[in-house]
Amino acid sequence: MKKRKIIIDTDPGHDDALAIMLIEKSELFDILAITTVAGNSTIQNTTNNARYVLDLIGSNTPLYSGAAAPLKIKLVQADVHGPSGLAGVTITRQEGLTGNAVDRIIEIVKNNPKQVSILTLGPLTNLAEALQKDETIVPLIQEVIMMGGAIAVPGNKNRVAEFNIFVDPDAADIVFNAPVKKTLIPLDACNEVFLTLDDFEQLKDSQLYKPIRAMMTHYIEGIQAFEKTTGALMYDPLAAYFLINPSSYITELMDVQIETQSELTRGMTVADRRTWGEKHLNILVAKSADRIAFVKDFLEILNR
Ligand code: RIB
Ligand code: CA
Repeated sequence: MKKRKIIIDTDPGHDDALAIMLIEKSELFDILAITTVAGNSTIQNTTNNARYVLDLIGSNTPLYSGAAAPLKIKLVQADVHGPSGLAGVTITRQEGLTGNAVDRIIEIVKNNPKQVSILTLGPLTNLAEALQKDETIVPLIQEVIMMGGAIAVPGNKNRVAEFNIFVDPDAADIVFNAPVKKTLIPLDACNEVFLTLDDFEQLKDSQLYKPIRAMMTHYIEGIQAFEKTTGALMYDPLAAYFLINPSSYITELMDVQIETQSELTRGMTVADRRTWGEKHLNILVAKSADRIAFVKDFLEILNR
């Protein structure tokens, strides 16, 4: 069966690392590029960490670094991933920064018209820059699946905003209003899906077990300081899983706009949930996910 062509845009990040492993080990996709962006950590760290994950799974997927900062505002990094962005493992290699993620996204989409899906796991800076630099790619992108946003639940970075959108709301505004098929996997679907260290014990026969356990020990400690969960929230793996098993999500086409001006609500994904009035239905939103299906497939694929 022909493998679906995808680009993964990411800011590893513990959960990004697991999402990359899930997609790569599923062997369902022709991953044309992994592009990195600053978010969870600096662009040097997120690129080092992406290289670390690719080396860990023996992948030769091309890796290109991208934006070191949001379009207009200062970079705000996450706290939960530690100073390297992947606390728990030792990153020895300083990956060279190609700085060409935006041009590679444009080139790959143009060389594969209407065939490439873009999975974004971090702030939307690279994708927004690509859409601004060459708007002819908009009708050529098959679809965009994004981890981000918070529709009917509180934010995880401020009272209303989810981290990826909070970091670069201007980029999100550009992407959310681009006439391309978009799916959003927000906190509404992600908040209930986490794995405990006991769950990860089911990977103990995998050659990935030791580094995953080391990463998850730190990630869970980091998350517990902010969220009241006892496990590793699977934000990015759940966005990646939408490409594998979309039927395990309950979705709704919605009108969602981005708050870019207010300090108080910067990065809010503002959904128009009124039952009346004209709507600009611009994005399919995953309101919930089937945790049992996800955990079963996630562990099965990572154990391969
Ligand atoms: O809010 C969760 C998102 O922010 C995830 O993508 C995580 O990796 C961080 O980037
Ligand atoms: Ca991420």
